[in-house]
Amino acid sequence: MTLEDVDRVAVLGAGSMGHGITEVVAIAGYPATMRDVETELVESGYEDIEWSLEKLAEKDRIDEAPADVLDRIETTTDLKAAVTDADLVIEAAPEELDLKHDVFSDLEELTHDEAILASNTSSLPITDIAEATDSPERVVGMHFFNPPVKMDLVEVIYGEHTTEETAETAHAFVESIDRTPIYVRKDVRGFVVNTVLGPFGDEAAWMVSEGEADVREADATMVHERGYPMGPFELSDMTGIDVGYQVRREAGQPVPPVVEAKVDADELGRKTGVGYYEYDDGDGADYAPEDASAEFDWLRIEARIVNEAADLIGDEVATAEAIDTGLRLGAGFPEGPCRRGDKIGLDVVLEKLESLHDEYGEARYEPSAHLRGLVEDGRTGEDAGTGFFEYGEADERDYTTINRTLHDDGLLEIQLDRPERLNAISPDLMDEVVHLLGTVDHDEVRCVLFEGAGDRAFSAGADITSFSGYDPHEVEPGEVYRAIEEFPRPTIAKIDGFCLGGGHELALACDLRVATTDSEFGFPEINLGLIPGGGGTQRTVRMLGDARAKELIYRGNRISAERAESWGLINRAVEPEEFDEVVGAFVDDVVSGPPIALRKAKRVINRGRDQDISAGLELESQAFGILLETDDMMEGASAFMEDRDPEFEGR
Ligand code: COA
Repeated sequence: MTLEDVDRVAVLGAGSMGHGITEVVAIAGYPATMRDVETELVESGYEDIEWSLEKLAEKDRIDEAPADVLDRIETTTDLKAAVTDADLVIEAAPEELDLKHDVFSDLEELTHDEAILASNTSSLPITDIAEATDSPERVVGMHFFNPPVKMDLVEVIYGEHTTEETAETAHAFVESIDRTPIYVRKDVRGFVVNTVLGPFGDEAAWMVSEGEADVREADATMVHERGYPMGPFELSDMTGIDVGYQVRREAGQPVPPVVEAKVDADELGRKTGVGYYEYDDGDGADYAPEDASAEFDWLRIEARIVNEAADLIGDEVATAEAIDTGLRLGAGFPEGPCRRGDKIGLDVVLEKLESLHDEYGEARYEPSAHLRGLVEDGRTGEDAGTGFFEYGEADERDYTTINRTLHDDGLLEIQLDRPERLNAISPDLMDEVVHLLGTVDHDEVRCVLFEGAGDRAFSAGADITSFSGYDPHEVEPGEVYRAIEEFPRPTIAKIDGFCLGGGHELALACDLRVATTDSEFGFPEINLGLIPGGGGTQRTVRMLGDARAKELIYRGNRISAERAESWGLINRAVEPEEFDEVVGAFVDDVVSGPPIALRKAKRVINRGRDQDISAGLELESQAFGILLETDDMMEGASAFMEDRDPEFEGR
């Protein structure tokens, strides 16, 4: 069965995962039936969907009225009615193997032979679940994250007998509902995200148990120094300390004494009002940057995380890219663990693990064979030019925060690819754009188009979470903007959604800007006690004049695309339906234009802008004189006289 054959979806379970999955599937346009065992459960799940759709509509996050989405959702308590016509069934029942076996053996009977049977389990092996059917080849894991409406990631897990076709269709389906799938190619406990995330809480708990660290200091350091959205103890309080405890017991892993003590005292986190923090008076964990400590040995945690990632790669469970995507989208990591390992140096990681292993003799510090192999081969990370990823020249480099596509006609598309942070501009992203523009063969490029991944933002500015890692002597935020401004080909920003702060500056460094009417522009830096740092003060004043530039920068609020257009900040504000077409027309003109003349035009306009007019005119006439002697000029003139389209070759 391929994606085209999937017309109808059934979701089994109306709890928090079941109703969330149903909602996401229906938003994407599929008719869906949500089934649970009791009418009240189904009704309550349906009400939750109604509530959530209203919220999404208020925030303008769905294109339709909630009622139109609801029209595609049916509910029932009758399993047969739910699944008979379904081409894809997603089971989201409680995590009990016996129960899942009952469900899947019924599915074997009730569904048509081709239907894909997916389980949203997060803790049971897909292979075990599939045992209840005679057709385990069509059973696959489809692990959504909570809440499905907000979380972009879905792990697509192969059971032992899952066919390529089943997994590929599941993967394509996930893409079709606007989520990001990653393949988990072997049915390992915890799949990818929870496996790699495990040491985040576990190692921190060992460190506290051993008296090596303090809870608050650990959390503050991991957040403020290392950029994680939450510290390990705050996270554990949120998910429930007993949950992590159970996972370790089931996996036969030792439990850190501090966890054991909390479970014994029934202090399980938020849900009991006390965990590592107290929650009686609100939300508890109020640690601040000053609680972070240089003494806190974060490398113990990160080394184990990188080690888990290496193990999964070595066992061919997932690629480095899939792991990084998984942890960024599924766990909110500021960057993937493989990328981070490459930055720290895999030799440093290995050394840390070896010294911990020597000290404690515990299996959790045993370095993975894959990690050892990389280090032995000299593939120790970014400094060595190769590690989990490649850092060589041009085509050999693996980018982790941007996607690039160079089309045959010379269009270079650069997608800012951090949708989980609204494409916020991190030091890595700047570095990768500078590298790409600096190494790509200019002769092959006729136009560069920047856009943002996801449907919410071009870019919401500099990545605020990476500010703490900045060394003021090292940071040169201007570099990326200069590289764009000085790139010898026309550059276009294709803007759909938030275009703020550093993202706004990136768009301003481009030559042309086309935006949807849904877009918003602003410089929120002032709200953070900052000013724009990537040319925003200078480019804006030249483009808009004093009053408007100062309004944007002083007030820090956002303006609509219509206003941006009337101010001359962007070239066009267009309705979303016409967006691709209008951008396409801009691109077509530029891509087929005469490369040398466009380069000169860009240079003369940019250089001349800051000169007095006579110097500017001098630049212009020099360029004009040079262009008169190009083959392209001859071609343009001949084509005009022969009444045909010119074919410029940049000569
Ligand atoms: N840096 C880092 N992360 C950012 C970010 C930024 N500049 N802008 C957004 N994000 C992250 C959010 O933290 C959030 O992550 P989470 O889901 O892990 O919490 C995610 O992107 C989605 O943003 P969210 O704030 O939940 O969306 P929203 O629709 O409620 O608000 C904005 C959108 C753009 C108004 C809001 O994100 C914002 O104000 N961002 C900061 C803009 C800014 O100050 N930029 C200039 C920096 S110098």
